[in-house]
Amino acid sequence: MDRRRFLEVMTVAGAATVLAACDRMPASAVAPWQGPPAGTADPRMRMLSWAVLAPNSHNLQSWQVDMRPADGMLLHADPTRLLPQTDPLGRQILVTLGGFLELLDIAASAEGYRADIALFPEGTFAADRLDTRPVAAVKLVRDPARAVDPLFAVIPKRRSSKVAYDTARPVPAAVIAALGKAATQPGLSYGATSDPVLAREIGGLAAEGYRVEFTAPAKMQESIDVIRLGADEIAREPSGITLHGPLFWWGTRLGFITRESMLDTSSAGFKRQLDSRMALMHATPTWIWIESDDDSRPTQIEAGRAYLRLDLAAAAAGVAIHPNSQVLQEFVEMQPLYRRFHERIGVAAPKRVQMLARLGYADAVPPAPRRPVDRILKA
Ligand SMILES: Cc1cc2nc3c(=O)[nH]c(=O)nc-3n(C[C@H](O)[C@H](O)[C@H](O)COP(=O)(O)O)c2cc1C
Repeated sequence: MDRRRFLEVMTVAGAATVLAACDRMPASAVAPWQGPPAGTADPRMRMLSWAVLAPNSHNLQSWQVDMRPADGMLLHADPTRLLPQTDPLGRQILVTLGGFLELLDIAASAEGYRADIALFPEGTFAADRLDTRPVAAVKLVRDPARAVDPLFAVIPKRRSSKVAYDTARPVPAAVIAALGKAATQPGLSYGATSDPVLAREIGGLAAEGYRVEFTAPAKMQESIDVIRLGADEIAREPSGITLHGPLFWWGTRLGFITRESMLDTSSAGFKRQLDSRMALMHATPTWIWIESDDDSRPTQIEAGRAYLRLDLAAAAAGVAIHPNSQVLQEFVEMQPLYRRFHERIGVAAPKRVQMLARLGYADAVPPAPRRPVDRILKA
C-alpha cells in the first residue's frame, strides 16, 4: 500500500471510529442501573433506587415520593409528567406506578422488609383524571422471615426490547405459561398467541395503532415534547424519549433533524420513524397481554404490578419483551382500533386489556436512562 492510500484508509477508519464513538449515551444517565449508590444509609432510599428502574410510559418516570412518613413513604403521580394527549385518563401512568410499587416491594424483600401498600389512602381518583392526592401509602415493616424475592436478582437485566425479534422462533408454550402465571392474580388474567395468523393480525393492528398516533398532530407533538436529542440533553434530563448517536449528531448539526421536521408527515425522517416502528410490530412471533375484569383505578395499579412481574420473569427466562399501548389508548381517534383489537382477541367490556406486549428472542439491548432517586423526592 502506498503512503497516499495508507493515509486515505487511516482517514476513513479514523472517521468511522470517531463517528461510532460520537454522541454516546452518557454514563451518568444509566448509572442508576448499578443500584443504590455506595453509602446510601436509609433503607428506603436503597429500595427506591431499585424502584426507579420500573418500566414506564415514554420513560417519563412519572413518580414522586413524599418521604415524610418515617416508617415508609407516600407515592404520587408527578403532575408535571403526564401524557394527557395519548393517555387522557391517566391509566398508563397508574399502570406505571403499579410497576414502581411492585419493584419497591421486591426490593424491600432484599432488605428484610415487607411493604404494606394501601392504595388511594385519601380516596380514589375520578375515572377521567389524575389528581395530587397520594396514589399509595407504603408502610415498611421489618420482616426477617421474608425470603428475598427471586425476581430481585434480575432487576438490573430487565429491558423493554424495542428491536426486531426472530420471527422463526416463537416463545415455547411452557415459557409463556410461566410468564403468564407470574402476572395472574384475582381480577387479572393473561392471553397470548404464537399462532402465525393471529400474531400477524395483532401485529397489523398494533402497526396501524402507531400510524394513528403518529399522524394525529397533537399526539405526536406530545411525544416530541419529551424527546431528549443528543447526549448533552440526555445528561441534563435522563428521562423521556432519548435519541442519540452519529445519525442524530450529524442530523441536528446539519439541520435536517429538528423537532419541527419530526412533526412533518411528508418528510423522509417522519416516514422512516413510522415505518421502522410498524416493521417492529410485524417482527413479532408471540404476543402476550394482561386483561382485567374491570377498569377501576386500583385495578390499573394491580395490572402494573402484574406486568412488572411478567417483565422480570421474561428477563429471567431470556425472553425479549416490548409493551405497545397504542390500540389500548383512550383518545377518540384510536377507538375503532381499540374495538377491533378487543373483538379480535375476544375480550368484551367490562373486561379490557391493560398491557399488550411483543415477546420473542433478540440480541440484548442497552438500558434506558433514569433520573437519580434524589430527583424524585417531593419537596
Ligand atoms: C404503561 C406502559 C406503557 C408503555 N407503552 C409503550 C409503547 O406504547 N411503546 C413502546 O415502545 N414502549 C412502551 N412502554 C415501554 C417504555 O417505553 C419503557 O418502559 C421505557 O422507555 C423505559 O425503558 P425500559 O423499560 O427498558 O427501562 C410502556 C411501558 C409502560 C409501563
